[in-house]
Amino acid sequence: ISTAAPFVPAKHNLTAIREALPHCRGCELYRCATQVVPGAGRATVSIMLVGEQPGDQEDLQGKPFVDPAGEVLHRALAEISLDPAQIYVTNAVKHFKFVRNGKRRLHKNPRMSEITACRPWLLAEFDAIKPKIVLCLGASAAKSILGGTFGLMRDRGKILSTPFAEHVMATVHPSAVLRARDHATRDLLFRHLRDDLEAAFKFAR
Ligand code: URA
Ligand code: SF4
Repeated sequence: ISTAAPFVPAKHNLTAIREALPHCRGCELYRCATQVVPGAGRATVSIMLVGEQPGDQEDLQGKPFVDPAGEVLHRALAEISLDPAQIYVTNAVKHFKFVRNGKRRLHKNPRMSEITACRPWLLAEFDAIKPKIVLCLGASAAKSILGGTFGLMRDRGKILSTPFAEHVMATVHPSAVLRARDHATRDLLFRHLRDDLEAAFKFAR
């Protein structure tokens, strides 16, 4: 069975994690990606955000949330005056998964087995940072921490507890805002994202 566990260092500090990540062979996703994308931020923050996985641009730059979804996220943070330096941002799966379409690389959702395989990295990050709250962005991160049957639209915005994290909340993914089929849906999803971020921020301080 696929798991990153043998590749995660015994010492869970961010430096050790970042040094070990490029050597992970915990699932097949390292094969086609350009590079692994580690989390970004300081170990002293009290909020941790978990996205799904790197996209095309993150894969090329080696940093999380540098694409249009990242812009949506940063707009939401700006609206609630939350300084990005006060959060740590990472992904549930740390290699880009895609299919080629001519020159373009199209994002593919990770499988549950890949999400589970990569979870030891996430748990090591929790341990390194000990955030007061973990905010899952979208269904993949929620699946990793809250379980495969978690209902995002039913239970978003609630502070929950799991064996993996004492306080965890899930909200909509910024990409869902971008993919919304009309303006009203887009506004609604953006407000959910912003309001849930604000609630998590208030809880953590
Ligand atoms: N960029 C990321 O790093 N993660 C996502 O989930 C989406 C965009
Ligand atoms: Fe390891 Fe995660 Fe990359 Fe799979 S996706 S190879 S488990 S870092």
